[in-house]
Amino acid sequence: MHRVAVIGGDGIGPEIIEAGTRVLDAAGERYGFDISWQRFDIGAERYLETGMLLTEDDLAELARYPAIYFGAIGDDRVKPGILEKGILLALRFAFDQYINLRPIRLLRGVQTPLAGKGPEDIDFLVVRENTEDFYVGIGSRLQGREAKELEVIRDLYSIRFDLDVESDADEIAYQIGVVSREGSERAIRYAFDLAMRRRKKVTSVDKANVLTDIYGLWRDVFGQVAAGYPDVESEFNFVDAVTMWFVKNPEWFDVVVTPNMFGDIITDLGAMIQGGLGLAPGGNINPGGTSMFEPIHGSAPKYRGLGVANPVATIWAGSMLLDHLGEHEAADAVLSAIEASIAQGVVTKDMGGSVGTMAVAEHIAATILTS
Ligand code: IPM
Ligand code: MN
Repeated sequence: MHRVAVIGGDGIGPEIIEAGTRVLDAAGERYGFDISWQRFDIGAERYLETGMLLTEDDLAELARYPAIYFGAIGDDRVKPGILEKGILLALRFAFDQYINLRPIRLLRGVQTPLAGKGPEDIDFLVVRENTEDFYVGIGSRLQGREAKELEVIRDLYSIRFDLDVESDADEIAYQIGVVSREGSERAIRYAFDLAMRRRKKVTSVDKANVLTDIYGLWRDVFGQVAAGYPDVESEFNFVDAVTMWFVKNPEWFDVVVTPNMFGDIITDLGAMIQGGLGLAPGGNINPGGTSMFEPIHGSAPKYRGLGVANPVATIWAGSMLLDHLGEHEAADAVLSAIEASIAQGVVTKDMGGSVGTMAVAEHIAATILTS
């Protein structure tokens, strides 16, 4: 018996999560385990009614579970950033889910926009550091009258702006990224450990040629960790260049490790080369705590309630969740069943089909049960 917390969230979140739990229940039936799902009402609706985002009570309750199955958050009625920072990022940080693992893999039968590339070319893992960098939330927007602080910044860094501290018309904003030795080391080490079980290559993605302090530290740590894995090939790529290589030569990559924000950006690119956002899963992992599995796409409010959303990213995230719970055979079976139903053309509109969200899930569940 496994106990898993469920946060459907907003927009299409509840539908895709229902599809995902249906498939994981089938996997449990086939492989001899039960999952007890505990649903949490966290998201835009509750926020709009009560003002609550993520409460201390939520966190205390969620901490009792090894895993959270997460749909999506984001709602047109709420200013961008509130739910994202107040719920999703808050969960990642509160549970110290320092790994954001995002497989970029072209499943058999899926079209990639990359001409001449197939499943044997597109199969790598992005390890996105998930608790630091520009996501730490240190920053401010200041207007002229609050500008004592600004004058200090200006003088310290000889920034070329002429500030009128008597006028509110002048305004400045800044945001600071933080990378620590400990934070980068644990993510980089995780990437090397993964590579040991794969094709033994790790690529660091950074921008150490411009952001020389934070990514200079990242590079130093990468070099030191790499020295401990003599069997693993390692290399550096700058983030601008890697966007080019993902498109031109995806077959070069095995495990890619990168600070938080570049990881956010390059995994949307990765999602496209693996067939679209409807197919891209992610795991927010704390190897010793509460981890959280989710599709990397958002809540797509305009498709809410229509039953047309592609559940594959969420079901695949469910496969990662099963892996995390130690149900490796069932996890593999879920992924095989996804591939089988795609091969049979049981796909949603975004993939050129006309099958609904739940019908895709039922088909995948049936495939697992008869495998
Ligand atoms: C993601 C998302 C989030 C992120 C947002 C919604 C906070 O884009 O999971 O990739 O930036 O990490
Ligand atoms: Mn993103």
